[in-house]
This record gives sequence, structure tokens and C-alpha cells, in this order.
Amino acid sequence: MVRRNGDIKLFSGTANPHLAMKMAEYLGVPIGSLQISRFTDGETYVKFEESVRGVDAFVVQPTCPPVDSNLVELLILMDALRRASAGSITAVVPYYGYARQDKKDAPREAITAKLVADLLSTAGASRIVTVDLHAGAIQGFFNIPVDHLTVIPLMSAYFKDKTLENAVAVSVDEGRVKTVRQVSSRLNIPLAVGYKFRPEQDVSEVTHLAGDVEGKTPIIIEDIISTGRSICECVDTLVKNGCKPEIYVAATHGVLTGPAFDCLNRPEIKEIIVTDTIPLPQSRTLPNLKVLSVAPLLAEAVKCVHEDLSITSLFH
Ligand code: R5P
Repeated sequence: MVRRNGDIKLFSGTANPHLAMKMAEYLGVPIGSLQISRFTDGETYVKFEESVRGVDAFVVQPTCPPVDSNLVELLILMDALRRASAGSITAVVPYYGYARQDKKDAPREAITAKLVADLLSTAGASRIVTVDLHAGAIQGFFNIPVDHLTVIPLMSAYFKDKTLENAVAVSVDEGRVKTVRQVSSRLNIPLAVGYKFRPEQDVSEVTHLAGDVEGKTPIIIEDIISTGRSICECVDTLVKNGCKPEIYVAATHGVLTGPAFDCLNRPEIKEIIVTDTIPLPQSRTLPNLKVLSVAPLLAEAVKCVHEDLSITSLFH
């Protein structure tokens, strides 16, 4: 049984302690004390160093690369909290890894987004707080409450302040049209949609574009930039269709693996905006890469969950 409204305790896994720290500052609470270490064989060891009995425990841990070890660490953290009699256990998963395998596209594949949902619940999570899931329907893979937050208001406000002339909101593929339409309505600008297909894993082709981009300044809105190939393909298609070669790219989750920095390092890309759901690699960056923080959004959500308040206002 979930007993909420004990004291609030915020903990951080090792995936994004900087974000957890910012949330703690915003909330005016300390980060709870815990030990996380690895045995020589690679197994993870976790021990909470303070009592969690009866508390509302929040654990911040995006399941970003290294995905498997961050995920297992989160599961072990949930298990430890459950066994230590926490009153409620909320997994704050700013980036939900494995989300892109959310259905079977071919025979004999797994649906990892559902598997991870089952694992989190089994481990002890009583609630999930997450941001811009790859597919909103993943919420339905859980039988516990999911607070699915979005950075669309944050991104839209960012672009509103820029007062770009003749802008157009662009969805790389048809799957994100609904989300990108929210940006186009908030900014009162038209919408263009690419047709993307994947001939093989981690390879994208954007073959068609619906909507007029000629002479316009595109704002590409994405959930994830992983290899950066989808963005690169989309930029090619936009340029071919006569857009202004000043393209803005905004993505919630900068996974930025492998060739991403090379793919994004193009003169037509004026600015790349991501958020801090995932820590950026220290060793590589681009001069036009900007990071918006989701810490206030997540902290407000934590506050609402703890105080049993509606989170609807966070969507405006
Ligand atoms: C997938 O369909 C997502 O919405 C993104 O378009 C995708 O994850 C980006 O991956 P990449 O950067 O590797 O092309």
C-alpha cells in the first residue's frame, strides 16, 4: 500500500547528479545520503545511509547511456527503498530509455518499453515522473500513476522570446506531428512534416516533406537526438525545399551518441537546443549547443506529488 505525505526525501542515482542537485536547490531540500558502488564483477551495490521509513522518496535517475547499468541501478534503488519501508517511491526518470522499442515492428522482437515498465513496478516504484516519452502511449504500460511532463511550453517560450521572422515548425516524421503542432499553435507559425523511414537500425531517410518551407526559418522539434542522422536528413530535405539556411533544432533529450556531433556540425544549423534530462558529454560540444534546464519543471512536479496537488498547471 502506498502511504504518501510523509517527509519528502530526494535521492540521486549516478546518471545525472547535477540535475538532482538543481532540483534539490529549487525545492530547498538536501539530497539524501546513499552509497552506490560496483563490485569487481560489475554488479551494483546500493545502501541508503539514512532512514526512509514512511517517507515520500523520490529517486532521480534518467536511464540514459550507459542504459543497462543506469536502469539496473534504478531498479536496485527501488528495491532497497521498498525493503526499507519507504511510504511511497517515485522514480523520477527524466529520460526513459528503451522507449523506442514500444511495439513489435517485426516478428520475434521484444517490446522493451513495456518490459522496463514492468521491471520498475516490480522493483517497487509506486509512481513515475518522466519527460517527453518517445510515445505517450507508454504511460499505459504501467499500472501505477505516471506523470508525463513535457518541455513543449519551455521550448515554445524560448522561441517566442527570439521573435524569429517567417518561422515554420518542423516535425521530422509523422509520429511527432501532434507534439509539433502544439509548438506551431503556441508560436502561431505554420507546420511542415517530413516522411522518415529507417532502412536499418540507426539509419534514417527523410524522403518527402509536406508543407511550405521556402524562404522560411525552420524550427525542427524532436524528442530525441541520438546519432543525429534523422536531424541531418531533415536538414538536407529542408534545404532542398528552399528554406532559409538558418535552421533551429530543439530536442528534449540529447542522447548524442556516436556520430551525433559530426552530423550536427553543419553551417545551416544555427542553434541546437536540448535539455538537461541527460548530462552532455564533457569532452565534446558544439558552440551553438544550448541547454535548457528541466530542473524547475521536475521539482514542481515533485512538490505537487508530495503535496497531493494537481500538476495540470505545469503544462501551460
Ligand atoms: C525516433 O523516431 C525519434 O523520434 C528520433 O527521431 C530518433 O530517436 C532520433 O534518432 P537519431 O538521432 O539516431 O536519428
